[in-house]
Amino acid sequence: MNRKYPETRLRRLRSHPSLLKITAETTLTVDDLIQPIFIKEGIKSQEKIDSLPGIFRYSKEGIIEYCKKIMDVGIKAVALFPVIDPSKKDLDGKEAFNRKNLICTCVQAIKKEIPDLLLIVDVALDPYTPHGHDGILNESGYVDNDVSLEALKKQALTLADAGADIIAPSDMMDGRIGIIRNELEAKSFFNTIILSYAAKYSSKFYGPFREAVQSSSNIGKSNKDSYQMSPHNIDEALHEVEMDLNEGADAVMVKPGMPYLDVIKAVKEKFRVPTFAYQVSGEYAMLKAAIEKKWLQEEVLIESLYSFKRAGTDCILTYAAEEAAKKLG
Ligand code: PBG
Repeated sequence: MNRKYPETRLRRLRSHPSLLKITAETTLTVDDLIQPIFIKEGIKSQEKIDSLPGIFRYSKEGIIEYCKKIMDVGIKAVALFPVIDPSKKDLDGKEAFNRKNLICTCVQAIKKEIPDLLLIVDVALDPYTPHGHDGILNESGYVDNDVSLEALKKQALTLADAGADIIAPSDMMDGRIGIIRNELEAKSFFNTIILSYAAKYSSKFYGPFREAVQSSSNIGKSNKDSYQMSPHNIDEALHEVEMDLNEGADAVMVKPGMPYLDVIKAVKEKFRVPTFAYQVSGEYAMLKAAIEKKWLQEEVLIESLYSFKRAGTDCILTYAAEEAAKKLG
């Protein structure tokens, strides 16, 4: 190509707002947005989360009403995260596969009231263990992969049985997708979707989430480097995605989002499968903090979401989903 000025004036196509619209290479609609929601046991009214302005922990009673509000703005899926009473946490994370636990009872109640809202639930033990790790530790404090798999399998089955539409393993154990898929098939949950957090990085951007689920002090100075991915790597992300697809994942996720747009693009280009991305708590917190200080205008929220679409993501989990949905109209 040998494009030259003035035959080519790239500004021509920018000379009217409608031209910008009809030539837009990517679009963002409410169908792209998924709202993460926190649910807490034993509270009467919603609780603020300091590092996530505008986001709350909802009570079991309040959750249905909030989900209806989410549906009213056109959002079709939510990701539910439980905040578990410390008295219910143990080293085996057993509460995770109690069919009457907080998340299962909420899934069941929401499905009964609003069956069309898609419910995504995490498979990982961190809400249920006193140390806040996603699996079970051996004597030396290392997360034991194969022992953890057994627990994760039971957790996944419990969630499917409660009526979750989409099971999202976020634990990063090797082999979990295959074990969970076999279990779901064996128990006739043929249409339960597995959305694998396939490329999940060991990231400091999860800080506000850990405050939200009140596990920050549990995880303390320890970290998840022995199972979540190193931020140095991208080939490894493709390897993770390939393994998870071979094991039966229906869709994959990259997380965090904005600092890992290269990974989203690489995954989408190589595999052409439904690719989700998670604009995580720290990304939202950063933007919100700057907006609150009036250092940035609130339009940055939506602008940040376009970057996900350009990178090729099919949908975005973001704390800004409700707000963005209202703005997108
Ligand atoms: C737990 C989980 C985490 C997030 C989603 N599921 C935190 C972690 O791995 O420690 C983070 C989401 C966010 O920061 O918004 N398995």
